[in-house]
Amino acid sequence: MSGLDLVIAGGTVVTAADSYAADIGIKNGRIAQIGHELSGAERIDATGLLVLPGGIDAHVHLDQPTSDGTTMADGFVSGTRSAAAGGNTTVLPFALQIRGQSLRACVEEYHQKAEGHCHTDVSFHLIVTDPTPQVLGQELPALVRDGYTSFKVFMTYDDLVLNDAQILDVFEVARRERALVMVHAEGHDAIRHLTRRLEAEGHTAPYYHGQAHAQIAEREATHRAISHAQLIDVPVVIVHVSGRDPMEQIQWARARGMKVHAETCPQYIALTADDLRGLNMDFDGAKYVCSPPPRDADSQAAIWQGLRDGTFDIFSSDHCPFRIDGTGKDTPSARSSFKYVPNGIPGVETRLPILFSEGVGKGRISLQRFVALTATNPARLYGLYPQKGSIAIGADADLALWDPTLTRPIRQAQLNHNCDYTPYEGMEITGWPVRTLLRGLTIAQDGAPVGDPTGGHLSRGTSGAFV
Ligand code: URP
Ligand code: ZN
Ligand code: ZN
Repeated sequence: MSGLDLVIAGGTVVTAADSYAADIGIKNGRIAQIGHELSGAERIDATGLLVLPGGIDAHVHLDQPTSDGTTMADGFVSGTRSAAAGGNTTVLPFALQIRGQSLRACVEEYHQKAEGHCHTDVSFHLIVTDPTPQVLGQELPALVRDGYTSFKVFMTYDDLVLNDAQILDVFEVARRERALVMVHAEGHDAIRHLTRRLEAEGHTAPYYHGQAHAQIAEREATHRAISHAQLIDVPVVIVHVSGRDPMEQIQWARARGMKVHAETCPQYIALTADDLRGLNMDFDGAKYVCSPPPRDADSQAAIWQGLRDGTFDIFSSDHCPFRIDGTGKDTPSARSSFKYVPNGIPGVETRLPILFSEGVGKGRISLQRFVALTATNPARLYGLYPQKGSIAIGADADLALWDPTLTRPIRQAQLNHNCDYTPYEGMEITGWPVRTLLRGLTIAQDGAPVGDPTGGHLSRGTSGAFV
């Protein structure tokens, strides 16, 4: 074909199905040709590199307000710059409904925050915290029809939790509208009970966050969420699954034919509960406080098995950055008890390198599985396929050129997020993105963002979970 704008030449193209040597020809931001000896107006030499579909991080938090006055470290500029530098071309952040707020107004607010600021494409999931008759009867159905085809519900957190009746109501709407519900499955009352007991015993350091958010509470809530989904007959995604116990519930449901999908995250393969001890049971452990918390070596092994055998459909960062200073994790109340430490850790830039290095590099998963978990499956699950998530004629030319041999440690000083630490400091990584392209335009090179924001908001179709 003549008239190609750009050719990515000489690389190894990798999809969820196979790997092969080929050039990729790009025209008007889309993949126009895949073949050999292609020529175009511009050429990028990808010799020795893997050419992967751009990463799709289906779970990030950007510029979300908090109820305690702390500030999330990343907004749409720094969060998407960091994402691009880490090999991603699309991220799915949340539009969080504050109780009492109209869901439509909430979505408009997030559009204003994001508009003109995104270095990757973005598409909002909704978080439903106030399922009023107006929200359930009118706003949610209208928003789903407008392309917001997924929403998250929480089974814990005082300001977010829905009771079982409310969850069932949301599931009903999801079934009717063919929307996908993401569930944060941790049992609220069990966590509150354990928290009270630990505090009464004087156990207030960040380490005890991990004890209060026990895996049993995650297992119980996972089973409850799955049972509710079965009652309503609707597919669900259990997000940020941390270990063996909730995984067994997911496998149990799948063995009975239920449409239960599952996500896990870097913190559950690269961190353990011991990281929350900090240096000597001190406040440094707050850097690792997230929910569900990292577990133990046995759960890490289970997670790897689940990444291999398909228990997990997707691998997301759950990027939820708070600085380890007075704006974020380190407040007087957080020093007084773990229960006030903001939950969440950064990771949008390190998600792909960690899974590549620990997974592909160490022979735990194949390259095809890596692409499936990080790009193709998120695109299918959240209604972005085939525009996004693969390398195919007609798809957006969203690509990550990857050097599988480049070895360097993760260093906060080299990351592009606005957080002031990384929980993965010093982790040795082999395999880094060296160039990220969004619709054929370079948005990051050699670990640094490039150019003005060219990302936009994507309206999504029905989740592949319904077909
Ligand atoms: O600790 C976490 N994961 N914070 C982010 C909010 C959530 O539950 O995903
Ligand atoms: Zn969550
Ligand atoms: Zn999250």
